[in-house]
Amino acid sequence: MPGKEDYIVAIDIGTTKVCTLIGRLKKNNVVEIKGYGITKSKGMKKGLVIDINESTKSILDSVESAEKSSNLFIDNAYVGVTGKHISFENNYNEITIAAPNKIVRKIDVDRLISLTNRINLSSQYEVIHTIIKQFIADGEKGIEDPIGLSTERLGVELLIIFGSTSLVKNIVNSVKAANIEIDDIIIEALASAEAVLTSEEKESGVILLDIGGGTTDVAIYKNKKMIFTYCLPVGGDLITNDISIGLNIPFNKAEEIKKRFANVDYNFPEILNKANMSDMNINTNKTTLNIQLYNIVNSRVKEMLQLIKSKIDEYDLIKSIPCGLVITGGSSQIKGLLQMASMVFDMPARIGISVDVEGPSEVVNNPIFSTGVGLLKYAFQVDNYEELDNINNKNKKNSGFFERFKSFINKILKGEK
Ligand SMILES: Nc1ncnc2c1ncn2[C@@H]1O[C@H](COP(=O)(O)OP(=O)(O)OP(=O)(O)O)[C@@H](O)[C@H]1O
Ligand SMILES: [Mg+2]
Repeated sequence: MPGKEDYIVAIDIGTTKVCTLIGRLKKNNVVEIKGYGITKSKGMKKGLVIDINESTKSILDSVESAEKSSNLFIDNAYVGVTGKHISFENNYNEITIAAPNKIVRKIDVDRLISLTNRINLSSQYEVIHTIIKQFIADGEKGIEDPIGLSTERLGVELLIIFGSTSLVKNIVNSVKAANIEIDDIIIEALASAEAVLTSEEKESGVILLDIGGGTTDVAIYKNKKMIFTYCLPVGGDLITNDISIGLNIPFNKAEEIKKRFANVDYNFPEILNKANMSDMNINTNKTTLNIQLYNIVNSRVKEMLQLIKSKIDEYDLIKSIPCGLVITGGSSQIKGLLQMASMVFDMPARIGISVDVEGPSEVVNNPIFSTGVGLLKYAFQVDNYEELDNINNKNKKNSGFFERFKSFINKILKGEK
């Protein structure tokens, strides 16, 4: 029987829902969800806290309902963060390996990694993840573990992900106010990618889109590592808003129409007349209504996808993505979205549902839970990550990064940040 200590907790504080998942790692590397709680999110906008009392209440509700469903008491959790303040920087450092034998030792790797501390972040920003993309030994690229190799120069390429200290602090404070200690904060794009991407996709090159209610989180993987991340502060709620304004109906009704009838497939106009919205009691002729709905949703979704593509184009990354797009999050369920995304990006696209996870089918088969499941997976498999913390010490709890993270949280709590 698994004990209480086998379980960890993830809280995904989304713009439309807050979900808390409790899971454990089984021997076959599958994450088993023992319980979950989901509540409507309040006090959040575009991934950010706008009312801390409301966000804390939503977190409390979701935690309490997860406690009931699992019969376990929750006092700490891994927490997702997102928002357009999240950004990244590529970083390269190099050192000379000392004579006489020029064999790389752990102490050399630690020294190399510690040079990362020199990156020039403004005081409003804080590093959230430092991902080691590859080591380079005397110009030889693609080295995963350099210890024991003989080389004169050892280099490391890093992806440093950072975010606004004060905006992260708002999430941290909301969770603390719900009496939950934070084990770690993890960016949502990384978590969702962890849930739905296969290792082959990460190796060959893939773009992950998590289209939620208030944000679209983007992550690109190549050679197994994240090489790009971006948060567009726009999601499905804006589409609902457009429908509400365009058809002059309340938001709730627009939301129902979106889920039942919206379709952005370019073949759709031919079958437009088949959508029967008669039970929605909208005072417009059926064909006009269908055409209006198609035009509203189509133009907004296309605009969102084009904005993301042009951001990725700035980094000239589209050409190296053979596995195409994987789309998850609640808004991945918009009908015809895959066809449209495939057309805009000119690459294949599939829906991303969590892999290697067991539990209630309403969780494991639902793309709104990808971030939550991914937070658990990332936390369990953190040893597999060549993040700064793990290179220094395989035991995350004692690692340098963890200590720095704790001190970041402590500074936040003490009001120094
Ligand atoms: N069947 C559906 N068809 C179209 N859209 C849907 C469907 N189901 C849910 N959505 C949309 O998904 C969005 C919510 O997705 P999700 O739960 O992933 O967001 P979130 O995590 O709360 O927000 P965010 O990640 O943006 O902060 C809403 O805009 C909702 O309208
Ligand atoms: Mg989300």
